[in-house]
Amino acid sequence: EESERESMLAVNDFALKHFEKNLQETDDGRDIGLSYFLDRGINEASIKKFRLGYSLEKSNDLLNAAKSRGYNEKYLIETGLCIKTDQGRVYDRFKGRVMFPVFSISGKVIAFGGRTLKKDVAKYVNSPESLIYKKSYQLYGLYQAKQAIVKHDKCILVEGYMDVISMHQSGIENVVASSGTSLTDGQIRLIHRFTDNVTVIYDGDAAGIKASLRGIDMLLAEGLDIKVLLLPDGDDPDSFAQKHTSSELEEYISANETDFLQFKTSILLNGVKNDPIAKSRVINDIVRSIAVIPNPITRNVYITECSRMLEIDDRIVALQVNKLFMERV
Ligand code: CTP
Ligand code: MN
Ligand code: MN
Ligand code: MN
Ligand code: MN
Repeated sequence: EESERESMLAVNDFALKHFEKNLQETDDGRDIGLSYFLDRGINEASIKKFRLGYSLEKSNDLLNAAKSRGYNEKYLIETGLCIKTDQGRVYDRFKGRVMFPVFSISGKVIAFGGRTLKKDVAKYVNSPESLIYKKSYQLYGLYQAKQAIVKHDKCILVEGYMDVISMHQSGIENVVASSGTSLTDGQIRLIHRFTDNVTVIYDGDAAGIKASLRGIDMLLAEGLDIKVLLLPDGDDPDSFAQKHTSSELEEYISANETDFLQFKTSILLNGVKNDPIAKSRVINDIVRSIAVIPNPITRNVYITECSRMLEIDDRIVALQVNKLFMERV
């Protein structure tokens, strides 16, 4: 099995360099792929740092290049770089896409994401799960971010590839992405290996808000201290970073990140503070979040804060939080 892994990593490494070479040295790569990145404000340094590439719009470009260099078709298929049909035909998974390699924590290429440049097809195609790629235990950008996470004792969690890259380019390097998959416990434990502090900056749309509400409870249950930042509607960290200077981005984050209580209250209450039904629903929802926090002191601080913010007797909040907490353990 170990040699199986080595062979898969080796062919991924070949593919990484092949996609990079396509981007920098072929006409299509430069005219289509490279100009796409540059048009989106991604500079050469970021392209090199994240090893971005391009897959040519051909059925067998990678397949032929790899085979002619002696790589076994078997590993191209096992890594998902190529697909084998039931009829036995083999072809490239990634065609005409800008390529984002996914690195393991130790810097090995374990998967790829490929973004289309057209309108009509799936925006991203990703490598499938494999012996070397367990998606729910990986975070995009962790390899490039881990030192900064330790240094700042804080991790910023975003949704996508471009968010990570644009934030790095703006000088904020302690950033990782859950990459579309809803956040998993494995990913959260991975963050916890480096820090206790997480700021969630998901996209400022309905899907992003929904995902952050779900993520909040999972992060709290892991015992992490979390903050949440809501971006202006329609923005994601990439688009926001591209529209502002580095210092504006930093100032926006420090001025607008809030604790989860404030975030949930403002999202859920949404102007219905005087409606008792709505208000009690919000309080119950917040109480459920507080009840997942493992540390009793932290739990208590949030009980006090919740009762103050929502003007409800703190003994009642405490009673309900503790009831739910006991049901969990
Ligand atoms: N994603 C995916 N497959 C999709 C859509 C999204 O794997 N069909 C993942 C990607 O990792 C993507 C992340 O979810 O980066 C966030 O999705 P989205 O916000 O839609 O894309 P962006 O990252 O904002 O990409 P872009 O700015 O290029 O549109
Ligand atoms: Mn801890
Ligand atoms: Mn999104
Ligand atoms: Mn985006
Ligand atoms: Mn996005």
